[in-house]
Amino acid sequence: MIGNDGQSRGRSLLSAASNEMLTRVGPGTPMGELLRRYWQPIAGASEFDSQPVKPVRLMGEDLVLYRDRAGHYGLIDRHCPHRRADMAYGWVEQTGIRCSYHGWLMDAAGRCLEQPYEDTANPRPSRAGCDVKAYPVKECAGLVFAYLGPLPAPELPVWEPLTWPNGFREIVLADVPCNWFQCQENSIDPVHFEWMHDNWSSRQRGGDHNTAPRHLKLKFEEFEHGFIYKRVREGQSEQDRYWTVGRVALWPNGFFLGSHFEWRVPVDDENTLSVAWFFTRVPKGREPYVQERVPTWVSPLKNENGRFITSHIINQDIVAWIGQGRIADRTKENLRSSDIGITMMRRRFFAEMEAVAAGKEPGGVIRSANQARCIALPNIARELNTEGIALADFGKEPLLRPRLNEFRFHYGQPPEVRRAFIEAMGIGGD
Ligand code: FES
Ligand SMILES: [Fe+2]
Repeated sequence: MIGNDGQSRGRSLLSAASNEMLTRVGPGTPMGELLRRYWQPIAGASEFDSQPVKPVRLMGEDLVLYRDRAGHYGLIDRHCPHRRADMAYGWVEQTGIRCSYHGWLMDAAGRCLEQPYEDTANPRPSRAGCDVKAYPVKECAGLVFAYLGPLPAPELPVWEPLTWPNGFREIVLADVPCNWFQCQENSIDPVHFEWMHDNWSSRQRGGDHNTAPRHLKLKFEEFEHGFIYKRVREGQSEQDRYWTVGRVALWPNGFFLGSHFEWRVPVDDENTLSVAWFFTRVPKGREPYVQERVPTWVSPLKNENGRFITSHIINQDIVAWIGQGRIADRTKENLRSSDIGITMMRRRFFAEMEAVAAGKEPGGVIRSANQARCIALPNIARELNTEGIALADFGKEPLLRPRLNEFRFHYGQPPEVRRAFIEAMGIGGD
């Protein structure tokens, strides 16, 4: 069924039908049903400080996400149950959101609480048929998560880094016009770091040699919460943390690199919301540092000439994802040994889609509140981020050194976020 032997020889044999299965996310599709079993990050909580209502499209469903005056989130149908006006132009009240057309009021459970004219003019107004679809929402570490699957919802997995104190966190969103799965395949693709992020960056700075340390050895492993890739590059050994610990392609659509997470959230079959959460531990001696509000910003993808921005790490990744086509045609690829992890991941997706179709709970769904409260992940940067290091030592640490000078992951960090970061780190002005 998987039809993909592309390990070290020959062409991939992924069929068009298999490609459809991996990429289609609407309600009732195998992948859509699988992904709906997991909580998805869909926004930053701080977005709702200035604008409490946000239209969102998730896995082909048009919805509106809001935070009411009591501070509760709701995620309900984009259209009002009365005559289908756009709830994104409604306003929030103490409880729920009110349609701006005739004032019907909806709550986070999708119940229609008020129909002002009916409630006034009719002795027994009917709410029959007026409930709308509504999905559970939770906030964690500045992120807003939603669950679009069958109830009861599983626990929201709280990954350990989301619980770390004494760090400056920020959330960066990007609207990526291509299918989510090619974005997620990038989470298990170590060799691209050498070429896309190292050699290409150096070429853009005027270099004319490929000077990045080459990858010498790769290993891919599966674990409870996804896959781990390990690598040895020139100048490293098997004692290095990139080999002993590795990095995590987080099941089902995340990526964890030690100090930050990335999620590739399907908007629909041809669009993805990239959600990234970053943590930088304040230098030793600056604790306690309490960040009241986690800033959220949107990274632009194109410059004023309409060209993709290629200077920043995740912007570079996005150029690769979009370049593969709106939905990558996997019948035409040629997988090799660098792609073993990709094949492993596809196999796991096919197996879990089958499990869901058979009425089973797929892997990685957590039902125990105790287990979900703080889940450790393999982490190359755990000590750096929990113990912290002195500011004077940042320069010795390749993972931290670049952070002080600039935010290299996404283009477009707003100046006020940079200022807040400088203040948190205690590093003076630019
Ligand atoms: S369409 Fe929303 S209240 Fe009439
Ligand atoms: Fe990358």
